[in-house]
Amino acid sequence: MRCRMCGQRAVIRLRSHNIALCEGCLQEFIRRRVKKAIKDYRLLQPGERPLVAVSGGKDSLSVWDLLGELGFEAGGLYIHLGIGDYSDRSEEAARRFAEARGLELRVERVADHFSGLGIPELARLDRRPPCSICGMVKRYLMNKAAYEGGRVLVTGHNLDDEVATLFGNVLDWKEGYLSRQAPRLPAAPGLAPRTKPLVLCTEREMAAYAISRGIDYILEECPFSRGATSLFYKDLWNQLEERSPGAKLRFYQNFLRVRHLFREEEPRLQPCQSCGFPTTTELCNFCRLRDRAKGKKGNPP
Ligand code: AMP
Ligand code: FES
Ligand code: ZN
Repeated sequence: MRCRMCGQRAVIRLRSHNIALCEGCLQEFIRRRVKKAIKDYRLLQPGERPLVAVSGGKDSLSVWDLLGELGFEAGGLYIHLGIGDYSDRSEEAARRFAEARGLELRVERVADHFSGLGIPELARLDRRPPCSICGMVKRYLMNKAAYEGGRVLVTGHNLDDEVATLFGNVLDWKEGYLSRQAPRLPAAPGLAPRTKPLVLCTEREMAAYAISRGIDYILEECPFSRGATSLFYKDLWNQLEERSPGAKLRFYQNFLRVRHLFREEEPRLQPCQSCGFPTTTELCNFCRLRDRAKGKKGNPP
């Protein structure tokens, strides 16, 4: 198998694009896909400074790498969730990446905000699944860091992630979620703009990119994500893609064309009485949880 661009030995075949590529040309191909997403969906405007939320996994470290390659001055944010060794190892991966490249990495610890408690303890305290607490806490801390720093928040969501989320929302025709699923969400009072530059790149392409760039990412998934519905949807979509190459890309891009048909009144947001960030209730979920965590685990209130 030869590379379609340069004729050298190919390392990957991409059936959805009907090409095979060598390592160097794969990197160039991914750079072009990211540039296309940035241009087509206006993900980053000239002069905007990105803040990349990095989990230590292949996608977020790769998007940080790619933005640097494309000339953006991007900083990183790692959120230590307090999920045992998994969190320590992913922090290590994020730090190694930043140090090797001389990039600025900010680290936020969930325990510092919740009287020493991490996600597993908070989930027990609030009697909610860890992933739902985790999602809320991550969204809050990511937005706060980006908003206060005047940055555009960048996440590593790839095409497979977006297709799995979209599929779940379509199964239940969740109009509100459908109207808000976009590669870029605009700024609003108290909210930093959010963008996803990898929406045109698949999980497999990103794994190949990360390996070819020598990015030392953690393979380990969060222990709470095992058996999650999104993994089941991803598996289904890999089967669809196998039978019909390009299915994921068509599903996602065609959705973006009709997205304007889904409209739901925006929830009325007001500043949280404690922290000032937007919320639909008097006190935001983050502050409410912080108050509940006070005095737990033998910590002073
Ligand atoms: P996930 O919600 O785990 O699928 O992750 C989606 C995106 O959120 C990743 O690509 C990262 O950009 C970001 N992210 C996930 N976990 C963290 C973390 N612990 N710290 C900072 N960003 C994260
Ligand atoms: Fe948040 Fe798993 S519960 S990453
Ligand atoms: Zn608040």
